[in-house]
Amino acid sequence: KILVLDFGSQYNQLITRRIRDIGVYSELKPHTMTAEEIKAWHPKGIIFSGGPNSVYDANAYKVDPKVFELGIPILGICYGMQLMAYTLGGGKVSGIKEPQYGHAKIDADTQSPLFKDLPKKEPVWMSHGDLVTKVPTGFKSVATSPDCPISAMQDTAKNFYGIQFHAEVRNTKYGNDVLKHFAFDICHAENNWKMEDFIDLQIQNIRNKVGNNKVILALSGGVDSSVVAALLHKAIGHQLTSIFVDHGLLRKGEADQVMKSLHDDLGLNIIKVDAKKRFLDALKGVSDPEQKRKIIGHNFIDVFNSEAKKIKDVKFLAQGTIYPDLIESGVGAAQKIKSHHNVGGLPKDMHLGLIEPLRSLFKDETRALGTKLGIPDELVWRQPFPGPGLGIRVIGEVTEEKLRIVRDSDYILRNEFKKAGLNKTVWQYFTVLPGFKSVGVMGDQRTYDYTIAIRAIRSIDGMTADFARIPWDLLSKISTKICNEVNGINRVVYDVTSKPPATIEWE
Ligand code: XMP
Repeated sequence: KILVLDFGSQYNQLITRRIRDIGVYSELKPHTMTAEEIKAWHPKGIIFSGGPNSVYDANAYKVDPKVFELGIPILGICYGMQLMAYTLGGGKVSGIKEPQYGHAKIDADTQSPLFKDLPKKEPVWMSHGDLVTKVPTGFKSVATSPDCPISAMQDTAKNFYGIQFHAEVRNTKYGNDVLKHFAFDICHAENNWKMEDFIDLQIQNIRNKVGNNKVILALSGGVDSSVVAALLHKAIGHQLTSIFVDHGLLRKGEADQVMKSLHDDLGLNIIKVDAKKRFLDALKGVSDPEQKRKIIGHNFIDVFNSEAKKIKDVKFLAQGTIYPDLIESGVGAAQKIKSHHNVGGLPKDMHLGLIEPLRSLFKDETRALGTKLGIPDELVWRQPFPGPGLGIRVIGEVTEEKLRIVRDSDYILRNEFKKAGLNKTVWQYFTVLPGFKSVGVMGDQRTYDYTIAIRAIRSIDGMTADFARIPWDLLSKISTKICNEVNGINRVVYDVTSKPPATIEWE
């Protein structure tokens, strides 16, 4: 296995992801792990992730210098490479006038174990404000580019390597090969990691943690909580009670569909709670997105709390938190973007332990897991749906009227996408109610009604996304249908922004 130390880059888990994809188990751990702790974990290799700091910042993330004495191969990526140059003697890190961000071409030394059998010129992805200007003692430079003379460095005697570019992102064409070289040729890691191992490991972990106690599960209706429900069902059967909170922010027909698939067909033990009024009341007059997310999250947990009290001997709460939820909520070293509601934490008086077996998985890994667990395709391949539901697709204050408009327009969109076969290729598609009104004309009448925005994106893991190029004719058909059939809408617009700079959801 290979250990990735987290120095705060938004994309650091992608490194562990890529390593797992090539068949080697990998985990992301805090950069504060000591050399002793690292040794006890028995990694075959260590990767230092990128990060937003400069090594010269007052509170820059540092590494236990003893890690360099363990005799374990190390690969530093971006900040990780700079940290190596800064920590090991003889190296130098300098700032650059303009941060370098985007595509670059490196000239690589193909004698280096990292670049073995790869083309000499390689397209890579750079994103940095500092760079290494002098390699540490014992190192040599093994790749160069016009804006970054030392794009990679190595000390083959000690098995220390550094790359300034991001091998983990897809824009680095041979990034996967570089990581493979590190994992197999340099670390001699074994290619033996599979999804079945993850299931067995998690089932064992869950059983050890839970014992004979009971668990309640936060079933939100989305893919993640459904997969975690199936995993727990497999591990502990009827010790699990899933609580399905209908917060009134679900899509049209969704509550019934969830009950049918999970309760009727898969045999899970589910209690459905109708809490529509409670959520609407709590959201009255609130328009700030973060506040809305928090209110929905807290109410969600409170409903569990009171349901939990009705069941005897409940000791744990399970949640379908997946990795992108954590990273974007700023858990770990990365910057906070949004507080995803399932990471809100538990009230202290709840006295329940937390079980989140999907914490290290990306969306596509979660789906693969669901399939391996025998969950039917129509459930596993349902598009992702945020915990706060339509509450964050009505921009500003949430009202029953606005929810109806989003729900009905979303239903039309989903049906048309399905008819056109786009439901399989477009990662996520939904409507958003921005909440402003504009003038229109219907029949001979002036109208003054709301605008609906359509958001449709392609993505692999939700971390980045590109807006979907869908046919004009289909857009035209959907637009006409929404204006004709959803009361209160006289205008439809299409969101043509990618992530970054936008996020997938509008709030
Ligand atoms: P953003 O809007 O952050 O969304 O680009 C990335 C993915 O996450 C979903 N999302 C959430 N999922 N709880 C969730 O379980 C949340 O609070 C939440 N907010 C956004 C979003 O739909 C997209 O798929």
